[in-house]
Amino acid sequence: MSEIATTERIATVQWSDALCLDLDFMDDTHREFIDLLAEVEVADDDRVVACFAAMVEHTDGHFGAEDRWMQDTHFSSSNCHSMQHNVILQVLREGLKRGQAGDLVLLRDLARELDVWFSQHAQTMDAALALHLRGVGYDADSGRVLHPEALPAQEISGCGGSCSS
Ligand SMILES: [Fe+2]
Ligand SMILES: [Fe+2]
Repeated sequence: MSEIATTERIATVQWSDALCLDLDFMDDTHREFIDLLAEVEVADDDRVVACFAAMVEHTDGHFGAEDRWMQDTHFSSSNCHSMQHNVILQVLREGLKRGQAGDLVLLRDLARELDVWFSQHAQTMDAALALHLRGVGYDADSGRVLHPEALPAQEISGCGGSCSS
């Protein structure tokens, strides 16, 4: 056993039922995201940049998939949910650059803030999207809408959630 004292980091980020949206393809992605974020949290200084980069790459795919589902189901390309994804991804990419340049404190701060942001995002914008996708019978594998009659006649420019007018 090593005699060198190490600081063991404990993950506080964790999945909870409050994040469950009852839509498997969204929930699976969100569980993966939480796991990757927890890995950032517990990573030591040698690994934290790589873990953060893996989380950003996953988030790119995660947001890209949700944006595609919105496009497939009559959201406008400038809807506020996709806009929020863009802003967050930009912040994460900028943070990663600074982390790669040595600012590990910033990465750890960002990871903590992202945890808070994600809970709120999942329970508002993502929850509204899940409700919408269920309502129109969206199949994420094929991109098909099983109940096209349930699609809104007009493009959705909000997120379908509380911020929409
Ligand atoms: Fe999401
Ligand atoms: Fe989202």
